[in-house]
Amino acid sequence: MALAFSEYSRYYDLLYADKDYNGEVRYVLKLLAAQNIRGGRLLELGSGTGKHGRLLAEAGFEVHGIERSSDMVAQAVTTPSFTCEQGDIRHARVGKTFDAVLSLFHVISYLTDIEDLREVLSRAREHLTNGGVFIFDVWYTPAVLAQQPEVRVKRVADRDCQVLRIAEPESYPNDSRVDVKYSIFVKNRETGLTSTFEEVHAMRHFTLTEIDLLAAATGFERIGAEEFGTGAAPGTDTWGVCFTMRAVGP
Ligand SMILES: C[S@@+](CC[C@H](N)C(=O)[O-])C[C@H]1O[C@@H](n2cnc3c(N)ncnc32)[C@H](O)[C@@H]1O
Repeated sequence: MALAFSEYSRYYDLLYADKDYNGEVRYVLKLLAAQNIRGGRLLELGSGTGKHGRLLAEAGFEVHGIERSSDMVAQAVTTPSFTCEQGDIRHARVGKTFDAVLSLFHVISYLTDIEDLREVLSRAREHLTNGGVFIFDVWYTPAVLAQQPEVRVKRVADRDCQVLRIAEPESYPNDSRVDVKYSIFVKNRETGLTSTFEEVHAMRHFTLTEIDLLAAATGFERIGAEEFGTGAAPGTDTWGVCFTMRAVGP
């Protein structure tokens, strides 16, 4: 079985063509402005194909992304104010500090191991000075346990191919984890041939307490937890919760 975002990355933008990156960036800009961050330098962990990063750069920020998939990095359209590099967010050190660190669209949920989580939060902290903020969204345990992930089917197409994606979840509640097996069928319009591949995306979900413990262990305090996009209080119907953490002493 392939690693998450190996072949998948080739169809990523097509699969998420319906994702409202503009609206999400407006929401993130509001979160940043609430912390008096209206310009300056942003570090984006797990920057994917660079959609958020580019829009944030257009909004006046200087953005640098770190992304593990070299295919995704290659697809990103960089500009003087939006750059990205291939790297692992558990280990990457850029060598300067930023006004805020961001990690958007469940990137942190891809870290299922507690030591990896500690590493990533520590890396985020190292790139901030005291008072800087780290904003990220993750799957939220109360919602995942209440709703239970379901089998989902998605169909997308462009002029070259038709893609069918079947997502089959398997839950491991004691590990706060859901393994989502993606089976992807790609029909080439020109040849009529269909190719197929599978990837498992292991996703961790979090409680507020777990996030608070991680924050305390890595030099952060939690200053916000709300539904990503709406700002609603987290509850059993809030799959994606967005956290704002402030970097604290020593
Ligand atoms: C759902 S995608 C989100 C991408 C992008 N932030 C977006 O909103 O389109 C999750 C991303 O996290 C990246 N990722 C997961 N673990 C990583 C790691 N340890 N280091 C760097 N990137 C990682 C994946 O390669 C993938 O691009």
